[in-house]
Amino acid sequence: MGRIVYVNGEYVPEDEAKISIFDRGFLFADGVYEVTSVIDGKLLDFAGHAKRLARSLAELEMESPASEEELLAIHRELLVRNDLTEGMVYLQITRGAADRDFAYPEDATPTLVLFTQARALVESPVAARGMKVIGIEDIRWGRRDIKTVQLLYPSMGKMMAKKAGADDAWMVEDGHVTEGTSNNAYIVKGNKIITRHLGTEILHGITRAAVLRFAREAQMQVEERAFTMDEAKEADEAFITSASTFVMPVVEIDGAVLGDGAPGQVARRLREIYIDESRKAAV
Ligand code: PDD
Repeated sequence: MGRIVYVNGEYVPEDEAKISIFDRGFLFADGVYEVTSVIDGKLLDFAGHAKRLARSLAELEMESPASEEELLAIHRELLVRNDLTEGMVYLQITRGAADRDFAYPEDATPTLVLFTQARALVESPVAARGMKVIGIEDIRWGRRDIKTVQLLYPSMGKMMAKKAGADDAWMVEDGHVTEGTSNNAYIVKGNKIITRHLGTEILHGITRAAVLRFAREAQMQVEERAFTMDEAKEADEAFITSASTFVMPVVEIDGAVLGDGAPGQVARRLREIYIDESRKAAV
């Protein structure tokens, strides 16, 4: 049985959902998105995702087709209609359909699409064994703080990792790690958690913000600065964060095994805290 998805005001079976071939999301990747995770049938940090979505839209001078309350109601309705207890809700807003022109159209109506994706997030086999990552050059555009749907390079990066027998790639620019293909990157050295500072070079992860807050509350030391791949390979442990992975341990970087090759203590503890606390605050 297929899913019920949301397209521009209507809940429809997934095989009946339609978008114009003139949609600027399709023609120009002129669109933004959010991925919100779901545990126990509830949304994790919806407010954080809504806030970042509003910022992405504003940066692209795009109107939101729905208020935060309306978006929350649509998310919840989709969870109910699809009987989803664990997984993700994907939301995309594009500038809408218009004659192909590089300039933004003046009168296009934004397109709003949401769908669910079931997935086991808490009991993850990868969390138990830890991930392997490789380093690749970061050749994405310069406004990675805007969550746009132009994800081709991250997609290529994921394939480079797979071909190299790894799980993901960490992207490197000017000698320093920016982030993973679809996640923020961290190393731990001498009990200090190190992750790149915010800027236009990385996406401001909603999971990152929560995890750093929980780490500080648990009296863990946090340093927000850029680090190199060499530093990462010598780290005691490493991990990534995102809405679809929570806190996921990294055990190998460009072939260098970290510690004893098993998920590190800090990553395991943060994963536990993140899941517990997010669960309590889910809506
Ligand atoms: N990706 N950096 C990049 C490049 C990302 O694509 C993501 C999220 C993150 C983590 O952000 P958050 O913690 O808000 O999920 C960092 C989502 C999950 C995706 O594209 O599926």
